[in-house]
Amino acid sequence: MTEPRYLIDPYREWAEGEGIPVVRGFGVDLLEVDVRPWARIGASGALVHLDGRGDFADIHVIEIPPGGETAPQRHLYEEVIYVLDGNGSTVVETPGGERRGFEWRTSSLIAIPLNARYQHFNGSGRRSARLASVTDLPLVLNVFRNEAFVFENPTVFPERFGAEQHYRGDGTFIPTRPGRHMWETNFVPDLRTFELREWSARGAGGSNIMFVLADGTMHAHISEMPVGTYKKGHRHGPDFHVFAVTGEGYSLYWYEAERELRRFDWKHGGVFAPADRLYHQHFNVSPEPARYLAIAFGSLRYPTVADKLATWMGMDVSVKEGGRQIEYEDEDPRIREIYEGELRKRGIPSRMHEVVPA
Ligand SMILES: [Fe+2]
Repeated sequence: MTEPRYLIDPYREWAEGEGIPVVRGFGVDLLEVDVRPWARIGASGALVHLDGRGDFADIHVIEIPPGGETAPQRHLYEEVIYVLDGNGSTVVETPGGERRGFEWRTSSLIAIPLNARYQHFNGSGRRSARLASVTDLPLVLNVFRNEAFVFENPTVFPERFGAEQHYRGDGTFIPTRPGRHMWETNFVPDLRTFELREWSARGAGGSNIMFVLADGTMHAHISEMPVGTYKKGHRHGPDFHVFAVTGEGYSLYWYEAERELRRFDWKHGGVFAPADRLYHQHFNVSPEPARYLAIAFGSLRYPTVADKLATWMGMDVSVKEGGRQIEYEDEDPRIREIYEGELRKRGIPSRMHEVVPA
């Protein structure tokens, strides 16, 4: 009799077999994550499994040594890369054999088209470069359970490559309505300075842009909170990986009917993922606007899962009206008190009274 086979997680088995650290937690500082040589990538790396990552997504951390490069890669999963530190370049090969290269630096955003061959190069001879990507490898590996199919698949997806200028830092602005305006591209040179659009319904003078990346199922958006403000609380399904980009702040999180407000402090390098149905709220406590990047499975163009569709429709609608957001006037009064106490410690005036009366 053979052993019964059940409760198998092919992605987890793959992760454990890669010989690199697998880091877990609600949130982590990606600049501090220990990396080890990763034979597949030809550089050093680690995997990060956040508590709220859901069933479909993971984080790959890659560190390229000074003057180094990764081995050429191709894979049948999508990957959205945020540059944590350093500068360098990436070359992506189109199905016609054309090579599209672009130069990145800290806070660049890169989308690799599905199954494209690509390679990263560190542009510095003195400093390492560190990249973090969110991928949907857990989904793909658990469904197909065949590494050759995922990593050595010759199928090409020319429809995913996008316009040539989308690799030069340009993009196509696709206006819809506040909170859903899109920027279609493969490469954003610097998320710290990228132009955002106003989205008052999510809170206090905030702005955002939704990305369409390599016509993918993977989603990304960026949001900004002005100095002295915080966003409205909300909740949704899992797998939104939230990366701090500029400024410093913290996020509170709690389940419905819970009294305790838990807290994660962040600045560039920090990432966290609110779990399914966990309420969370983001606060800027720095003397500059705070920006964060969120990467998830299920994009505005291709929501794919019912929860993402409901999030895109209801993310700025009150829970009292069937949406996913807690309006300022309905929030726990401790939230405002904690925030104004944090600002006083730093000598930063609150601007919350301008948007909602105390
Ligand atoms: Fe959220």
